[in-house]
Amino acid sequence: MARKIGILTSGGDCPGLNAAIRGVARAAYEMMKDVEIIGIQDGYRGLIQGEYRLMKRSEFSGILTLGGTILGTSRQPFRNMRVIEADNVDKVKAMKANYKKMGLDCLVTLGGNGTHKTANLLSEEGLHVIGLPKTIDNDIYGTDVTFGFHTAVDIATDVIDRVHTTAASHGRVMIVEIMGNKAGWLTLYAGIGGGADAILLPEIPYSTEKVIDLVQRREKAGKGFSIIAVAEGIMDREEAKMKKKERMAYRAQTGFASPSYRLAHEIEVTTGIETRVVVPGHVQRGGTPSSYDRILSTQFGVHAARLIQEENYGNTVAMVGSQVTHNKLSDIAGVPKLVPTDHQLILTARDMGICMGD
Ligand code: F6P
Repeated sequence: MARKIGILTSGGDCPGLNAAIRGVARAAYEMMKDVEIIGIQDGYRGLIQGEYRLMKRSEFSGILTLGGTILGTSRQPFRNMRVIEADNVDKVKAMKANYKKMGLDCLVTLGGNGTHKTANLLSEEGLHVIGLPKTIDNDIYGTDVTFGFHTAVDIATDVIDRVHTTAASHGRVMIVEIMGNKAGWLTLYAGIGGGADAILLPEIPYSTEKVIDLVQRREKAGKGFSIIAVAEGIMDREEAKMKKKERMAYRAQTGFASPSYRLAHEIEVTTGIETRVVVPGHVQRGGTPSSYDRILSTQFGVHAARLIQEENYGNTVAMVGSQVTHNKLSDIAGVPKLVPTDHQLILTARDMGICMGD
């Protein structure tokens, strides 16, 4: 009997998803000979609604360099997985029923933190699940790196580079707001790679005065422009003391689209230097994966196929040191990986005189 592998991609997409899908499929065909791969459409939504198809081997060709995901994706919040909503569907029951209907031996889920929480839930419900860690945020516990991250670092670094030249021409302050959700990994890497003068991370509540001081010091030193790399999840020192709801209300009342715009306003009013905000947004998640991510995704995909071959389920693939390995889903699900404030790269930045906002 053929081994049946279901595969889905869930949550925000990123470069490298197709390369990882290809890695799983090619290695599975190679290792297990009699294999059928069922593609589940649009992540857990497809698993809930029973949208899936038997994939042809040819569908895994020519996708190594392709951005996005050939399977489609959607966000299905974990917090609602056990909640019966207006459509009256018991989502967990439906996913289990469709897994059975497809006759799966295993389900491979490619995704970030939310995806891993649901993967763990399904594993606890008795399904055979293997996770693959993808996200530009690099915030999955237990792995040094997630695929998609380094491509996004390259893109965000390129944005900072381009902003650099125009900032210098105009003598402006430029704030580049970088994705990453609650984690500062992407901003830290791109900020250092792009030579930012200040790097603000969610993990280090910032003082507006310190940032303004940096801009003024640079101006006095004859450098009329400054580049500030800002993570989308930043908080100033006051906001960091607030509960989430309180912070949201405070922000809504100040009327700025994001903390970056508020900071830009404060810098401009205090220093008199024109200040602009650049938000590359989803550009950071688009397009072809870097060679680093193609290699990582392939390694991760192949490791997942090996776990399936060994029937070693309930795990997610990881990179630790320079070794591809795996962790138990139950050990990593729901544990965010934030940047430790004593991370070597933060110390490197400080030693370079980069302002970290504190
Ligand atoms: O998790 C990836 C990510 O790009 C985050 O960095 C960002 O906060 C979020 O997704 C954006 O989500 P959406 O694509 O749903 O707007």
